[in-house]
Amino acid sequence: MQALVVRTYGTPASFAIEDLPIPEPGPGQLQIKVAAASLNPADLLMTAGTVREMVPLDFPFVPGTDVAGTVTKLGPGTDGFEVGEEVFGFGAPPSFASGVGIPAVTSGALAEYATFQAGPYLAKRPPKLSATTAAALPSTGMTGLAVLGRGQFRPGETVLVIGAPVGIGSVVVPLLARQCTVLATATAPDGNYVRSLGAADVIDYRESDPIEEVRRRHPEGVDAVVNLALTGEAVLAATTALRPGGRLLSTTPGTPTHPAVTTVMGTTDLHPGTMDALTAHVLDGTLPEPEIRTYLLSDAVRAYEDLAEGHTRGKLVVIVDAEPGPCG
Ligand SMILES: NC(=O)c1ccc[n+]([C@@H]2O[C@H](COP(=O)([O-])OP(=O)(O)OC[C@H]3O[C@@H](n4cnc5c(N)ncnc54)[C@H](OP(=O)(O)O)[C@@H]3O)[C@@H](O)[C@H]2O)c1
Repeated sequence: MQALVVRTYGTPASFAIEDLPIPEPGPGQLQIKVAAASLNPADLLMTAGTVREMVPLDFPFVPGTDVAGTVTKLGPGTDGFEVGEEVFGFGAPPSFASGVGIPAVTSGALAEYATFQAGPYLAKRPPKLSATTAAALPSTGMTGLAVLGRGQFRPGETVLVIGAPVGIGSVVVPLLARQCTVLATATAPDGNYVRSLGAADVIDYRESDPIEEVRRRHPEGVDAVVNLALTGEAVLAATTALRPGGRLLSTTPGTPTHPAVTTVMGTTDLHPGTMDALTAHVLDGTLPEPEIRTYLLSDAVRAYEDLAEGHTRGKLVVIVDAEPGPCG
C-alpha cells in the first residue's frame, strides 16, 4: 500500500510517499481502508523529535491520528464493529497511547490502510456525515468538547479565545457562542471566518497586544480565557485579562502551572459517546463544518509543509480514497 513515511526525526521535507506492507489488526484492533485523514500540530511535534523523550517513534513511522474509512478486517475482541462499516475516530502512536494511559493505538492514518484500536475513540459514521468532515473532527473535537466540559461556562459569560481560526477553535467558538459572548484573536484574513463561527468581536494579535486590548475593551476583566496558541510565560500574561476569580483553560503543550490555569487534554478527558456527540452536533447544525483544505495522499508532504508553515484556517485533510462511500 501507499503511505506517507517518516524514516527519521525531521521536517516534512524529509517525509516521502512509499510502499509499505498493509498492517494487520492485532487483538482489539480494526483494519481500516482509509478514506480521509486529517493533520494536527501534534503530528509535527512528534515527527520533529520535539517530544521524543515522551513520545519516541518507531521508524518507519506513518503519521496521522484522525481517520475516516471503512472497516476491512477485525482483530480478535472487536465486538460491536463489522467489516464494511464506515467509521471515524482517533488513534495514537503506541508510545503516546501508553504514555498518557489511553487504549487507542494506530499504525498511522496517512496510508491506504491503517489499524486502529476498537473502542470509544472510534465511532460509526452515519451517511450524512461526509468522510472528509468526519476525518477533521476527532482530535480537535475531543479537545474542544473537553474544554467546554472543564470550563463550566455559564450563559452570558464573556470568554476570550486565543488562537481561534484553526482546529480546536472551529469547535469551541461555535459551541461557546451559543450561550456566551466570544472574543477571538485572529489575523485580518481570518477575521470573517472566526465571526462566521460565532465570535462577537475579533482582535488582530499582530496589530496589538490582545491581552492589553481585552483589558482596554473589558476593564472589569473577562470571565474566562481559552488558550489555543500561547505557551510559557505568555499564558501567565493572559491570566491578567481575567476578572477576579476567572479561569483560563489551555490546550497547548508547555502550559505552565498556575492556580487560575487548567490544562485540558482531549484524549484523557474522553468519555464513551464523545464521538457520537460530535456527530450529533454536526448533523443538527450546532457545530458548523470547519473550513477544510483537501490534499491527495500523493500530496501529503505538501499538506504537512503547509501545516508547518502556519497561517492555515480550519483543518487540513488528506483524501486517501477518492471514492469514500456513497456520501463521502
Ligand atoms: N489539534 C488537536 O487536536 C490538538 C489536541 C490537543 C492539543 N492541541 C494543541 O492545542 C493548540 C491548538 O491547536 P489547533 O490545532 O487548534 O491550532 P494550531 O494549528 O496550533 O493553530 C494555532 C492558532 O493560533 C494562532 N496564533 C499563533 N500565535 C498566536 C498568538 N501569539 N496570539 C494569538 N493567536 C496566535 C495561529 O494563527 P496564525 O496561523 O495566523 O499564526 C493559529 O490560528 C496547539 O498547541 C496544539 O498542539 C491540539
